[in-house]
Amino acid sequence: MESAKYLSIFSPATKQQRQENFADYWLFTQAHGGELFEDERDLAKKRATLQSFKDNPVRLRTPLANPEAFYRNYIDLQDDLGSLDKKTLMLTSIYKFARHEWVGIKGAWAFGPTMAKSQSIEQKISRVHVAEEFCHWRLFDEMLRTCGLDNVEWVPLEPFKEWVYQQFPKLPGFLLFAPAFVTELMGVTYYFHLHRLIDELMADEPEVRERMKALLDEITIDEVAHVSQRRNFIGPMGIKISKLLVRPFYKMFFADIPEVGILFNIEQMVKDGEAFDFNDVPDYMVERSWIPSYCKA
Ligand SMILES: [Fe+2]
Ligand SMILES: [Fe+2]
Repeated sequence: MESAKYLSIFSPATKQQRQENFADYWLFTQAHGGELFEDERDLAKKRATLQSFKDNPVRLRTPLANPEAFYRNYIDLQDDLGSLDKKTLMLTSIYKFARHEWVGIKGAWAFGPTMAKSQSIEQKISRVHVAEEFCHWRLFDEMLRTCGLDNVEWVPLEPFKEWVYQQFPKLPGFLLFAPAFVTELMGVTYYFHLHRLIDELMADEPEVRERMKALLDEITIDEVAHVSQRRNFIGPMGIKISKLLVRPFYKMFFADIPEVGILFNIEQMVKDGEAFDFNDVPDYMVERSWIPSYCKA
């Protein structure tokens, strides 16, 4: 048997290792995203990538049979879930996942110090991290446009949920770090499952299928690095707690997006999260992403 190249994301790390890895990640992330445009919550290289997609648009050969079904259900589910076709459900689930992310990052961006005011390397890393998340939101919007959904509005969540997301970045590190890490891990798990679903459901639209996967890959490559980077904030005790949080977090989050339970096997997603070790991340992603030194075998 070929030995695995990478170790579990829950592998232990010393403080010294984590400091060295933060320094290495900081070099990686600057090269990866390019210049930060603070006012626009954007990054030069990511902006150029999105623009190249927009300059070469791909659209469905056969428009969605029932776009009204998407628009009726994408913010709040109105119809019976069983009455909706899988393509529509996939698209509303993408919107709902991205909407949570968008609400979360608005809170984090408002609370976190600007790059000019960031003193520690961790603060600088976090500023770029949140800017990348805004780029993901734009990429998700482009995925929906690729399917002809040009009238999507990004709507805040109900006030209580908005409030919760605003409080989250204010938590002290020992409470924040584990959930922040598990949230990133959940993103990667969802994106890998979504990648396979796009293959299955868009088989009749090969150009759109490839474009949607290319847009998703841009997100996933960042998210693999985010998982690694957020793991790097966590000490030996916290990483054990993080593993225990995978199941309740995934279940709680996806309970809020009922489409996910129909489209995906949530139990398998939980297992994939608990077992995550980079070995299933394709080489073309690993090359553009970042993995902590202590997860390399
Ligand atoms: Fe993201
Ligand atoms: Fe992320």
